[in-house]
Amino acid sequence: MVDMTDLADVHIPTVLIVGAGLGGLMLGAVLKSANISYHILERAAEPRPLEFSIAISANILPVFEQLGIYEELKSVSLPLLTVSLFDKNLVHLGDFGGPYHKIVTGYDIQMLARPKLYDILHRKVPSYKISRGKKVLRTKEHDDRVTVYCSDGTEYDCSILVGADGAYSAVRQSMYKKLDEEGNLPLIDKEDLTIGYITMVGVSTPLNPEKYPQLSETDRSYFHVVVGDKNDSHYFVTVPDNQICWGIKIQLPEHEAKQQQFKNFEWGPESVDIMLKEYENFPCAFGGTMEDLFDTTPKHLISKVFLEETVFQTWYHGRSVLIGDACHKLLPGGGEGAAMAMRDAVVLANCLYNMSDKSDKSIKGAFANYYRQRYLDAEDKAKSSAISTRIMSGHLVTEEGFYRHI
Ligand SMILES: Cc1cc2nc3c(=O)[nH]c(=O)nc-3n(C[C@H](O)[C@H](O)[C@H](O)COP(=O)(O)OP(=O)(O)OC[C@H]3O[C@@H](n4cnc5c(N)ncnc54)[C@H](O)[C@@H]3O)c2cc1C
Ligand SMILES: *[C@@H]1O[C@H](CO)[C@@H](O)[C@H](O)[C@H]1NC(C)=O
Ligand SMILES: *[C@@H]1O[C@H](CO)[C@@H](O)[C@H](O)[C@H]1NC(C)=O
Repeated sequence: MVDMTDLADVHIPTVLIVGAGLGGLMLGAVLKSANISYHILERAAEPRPLEFSIAISANILPVFEQLGIYEELKSVSLPLLTVSLFDKNLVHLGDFGGPYHKIVTGYDIQMLARPKLYDILHRKVPSYKISRGKKVLRTKEHDDRVTVYCSDGTEYDCSILVGADGAYSAVRQSMYKKLDEEGNLPLIDKEDLTIGYITMVGVSTPLNPEKYPQLSETDRSYFHVVVGDKNDSHYFVTVPDNQICWGIKIQLPEHEAKQQQFKNFEWGPESVDIMLKEYENFPCAFGGTMEDLFDTTPKHLISKVFLEETVFQTWYHGRSVLIGDACHKLLPGGGEGAAMAMRDAVVLANCLYNMSDKSDKSIKGAFANYYRQRYLDAEDKAKSSAISTRIMSGHLVTEEGFYRHI
């Protein structure tokens, strides 16, 4: 292995990660284990992960074990055995999954509120390793390094740049601009992200198990999906501390999906209010109405977000490489997006660790190796996530060719 610390001037971090999301934090944690120096730049001044539930399964849990944070994860999560589907009169339509996950893999699917997962990973990265309030605007490749320009006028140099900056990645945009100018950007990578759904999500404050009996079962998580009749579906998930994660998801008609691309993906509070009003009388699968949940969820923690879907073809160029939503944005139905970002991080760290020297050729070889190990998985999970997302929105299993893909 090369001594990565001598890849550059000691004042220049070897690997610069843009984005302290779940992918960026995991990369920091594993680079630390590999003894590779790194630094993270994050746009947000304060950590503010999306408040919703997140399911973590066997395809990433062994890494949590190796990092010594599996027990901690288990202590703030509940095993998820099945996902149950209901119609809007709460008639049970069927179940997904089953207890097989544990039998086959040795791990349960762990369900938790996303801020808790974020906290666990955040603690694996020392705070001096993250510079906050650093919004990256663009990047520039030189022969021997990459320069990153932030909106506050600061600049950072690094030997290897990792874009872990989500679906609207600035690192990707700079990379693609350069490739396009050189005539080397595949046509397919010039297309906008496809936005097929909008969603609103929140996590309630602790609730009374007498009102919501599912909460009194503290050894499993309940995940109920109620399918509405306006191409909408509603999610109710129990997590520790008597909290319920809830979400509303609406599939956009095709023409609207196109128009939505031109809107900003962050909306003002008025649009949240309108959506809350529209769904307040909808039944909650655990009892009462959605209004009861809205009332017990701090307003500023309710988010309304677009759900895009795209797997980009180009993941690296020169000394820059992308991980997570920056190179593959999946629909949430498969519950795979975060695990994909974290698996990218682990594979990339392994490929960097395996570099035989610090030459350009070696960097390119490591990136190519990473891409080879991750691209097909992304394509595959994009397909299965799209199918499960549609099924959870009320499409029929038969119409989706479900069994052919999963
Ligand atoms: C409603 C919903 C439910 C989901 N449920 C699940 C689930 O159950 N299981 C699962 O595995 N996945 C789930 N996902 C998907 C998952 O959230 C994402 O795939 C995952 O967060 C991607 O991680 P990331 O690190 O690549 O990007 P992000 O989490 O988007 O992080 C990107 C980071 O980069 C920062 N950033 C962005 N631009 C810049 C810039 N220019 N300069 C500096 N910093 C920047 C952002 O502030 C952010 O901190 C869900 C997603 C949604 C929307
Ligand atoms: C739901 O989606 C289908 C297919 O996309 C469409 O034909 C139908 O009009 C939509 N229904 C509503 C109420 O929007
Ligand atoms: C390590 O790098 C070599 C090329 O230098 C490559 O052949 C090999 O597959 C890599 N191993 C891993 C585990 O990535």
